[in-house]
Amino acid sequence: MTEVESHTPADTRVAAEAERRRTFAVISHPDAGKSTLTEALALHARAITEAGAIHGKAGRRSTVSDWMEMEKARGISITSTALQFPYRDCVINLLDTPGHADFSEDTYRVLTAVDAAVMLIDAAKGLEPQTLKLFQVCKQRGIPIITVVNKWDRPGRHALELMDEIHERIGLRTTPLTWPVGIAGDFKGVMDRRKGHFIRFTRTAGGATIAPEEHISPDQALDAAGVDWENAVEESELLSADGSDFDRDTFVTGETSPVLFTSAALNFGVNQLLDVLVELAPSPGSIVDVDGEPRPVDAPFSAFVFKVQAGMDSSHRDRIAYARVCSGTFERGDVLTHAATGKPFVTKYAQSVFGQQRSTLDSAWPGDVIGLSNAAALRPGDTLFADKPVRFPPIPSFSPEHFAVARGTDPSKHKQFRRGVEQLDQEGVVQVLRSDKRGDQAPVFAAVGPMQFEVAAHRMSSEMGAPITLESLPYQVARIVDPADADFVDRQFSAEVLTRSDGVMLALFSTQWRMESFQRDNPDVILRDLIAARS
Ligand code: G4P
Repeated sequence: MTEVESHTPADTRVAAEAERRRTFAVISHPDAGKSTLTEALALHARAITEAGAIHGKAGRRSTVSDWMEMEKARGISITSTALQFPYRDCVINLLDTPGHADFSEDTYRVLTAVDAAVMLIDAAKGLEPQTLKLFQVCKQRGIPIITVVNKWDRPGRHALELMDEIHERIGLRTTPLTWPVGIAGDFKGVMDRRKGHFIRFTRTAGGATIAPEEHISPDQALDAAGVDWENAVEESELLSADGSDFDRDTFVTGETSPVLFTSAALNFGVNQLLDVLVELAPSPGSIVDVDGEPRPVDAPFSAFVFKVQAGMDSSHRDRIAYARVCSGTFERGDVLTHAATGKPFVTKYAQSVFGQQRSTLDSAWPGDVIGLSNAAALRPGDTLFADKPVRFPPIPSFSPEHFAVARGTDPSKHKQFRRGVEQLDQEGVVQVLRSDKRGDQAPVFAAVGPMQFEVAAHRMSSEMGAPITLESLPYQVARIVDPADADFVDRQFSAEVLTRSDGVMLALFSTQWRMESFQRDNPDVILRDLIAARS
């Protein structure tokens, strides 16, 4: 990979390397085409030569991973991957997010590590529940959003109607950069609204390779696309009259969103998305620490862990912590400080992860993701730094809505059981709650969605060697409760207090109604909200 000239002074070089990074995630409802788009982006950036290389979709080239069995069987994506590839003068870091709602907490963690998000919408379906939810997270965090209307090669809704829906339902003003030529289902190309010309796409066999595109001047576009071009011009003029032209300031603050039209499966419009990322998406900037102080990109090295994952591949059984570099330079072998414990952390085993393939990573810059193996001590939210101490704010946990008691089925495996539970807890696969009443052998797993339980149970038996049973508990609502009130709440009918592994006490209630009526009857007891997983 090309790097900025190495003879520039160190801090100027860090700033220059940061400047050319684009770190983003694709958020979407399952099936909108996230995996397909991810591959198409890598294909267009020439990081892979054929679609199908990263996710190993059915019928295409497959990747080796027993962990993927569950994903394949269910047709969902659980594990997230970080892809890095060069495009033009930039380095693109694409952080994949699990699509299923049950893993929203995981997605949330990934979104703490990006500078922009691509909101992918299915042209026929418009805004779907998971898109809405993830959009809210981006909005809360002020993450700029690029909207991509995908599957334009299939019959779908009218483009203007989709723009209205986005504005009306989520208050995001759209500023299309491209506009489709041809209705959904008859995708001929796009109008580049900034330059005014027609980009005509040509299909390739099976969409496995880059689709050729021709750039046709406005005066020739009418001959080339006839009435479809006329419609595109007319609608584009309507958009301009309505103030829907791109504006960088409001894009960066998350008030407006540039829009592109694609067919990820046919590789149409993917180049345009890469160009927009390079030309318009923000590069890494200062990140504010727990004390509210910004850590500029050229400060000494700092990073935070946004994800911990194990068991992805049986040939690499260890645990990997993914950290986003916030400032400074990372060199493999650097000894960093783990802010939570003050202990040194040796980075001999740093990796970059490309889909399921891993390779040794020698250096990294702000915006990059480092995969750190042998990372038993690291948890999501932890800060690593060199020289000048810093601590970034913790990643808030989501409010669990499903609770189940975990019990080992084989008493002789109690050590494996304990270690396994601890590991799942540290990775954030589930939250682990305990109480004296229930005892250490019967911890309570708390999750945003029941599929997290399936993952936990699967890993306990296949990876930790300690099969478990999970008995669900009749609670739906959790609130943080003060230790002083814990006993009182615990004595209530349909309520129980348990302690999370980070020491926070959670009061569980059978229903929202019970929790609210308890609160009405006992206004002195303070119950605090966790982040709601579903709006
Ligand atoms: P996800 O990661 O968001 O869940 O979606 P994914 O990429 O897996 O895509 C879901 C389905 O939609 C796949 O079909 C995929 O081929 C299809 N798809 C994605 N983008 C487009 C597009 O632009 N146009 C059309 N027509 N289809 C698209 P599948 O039948 O589930 O799988 P596959 O066998 O085709 O891979």
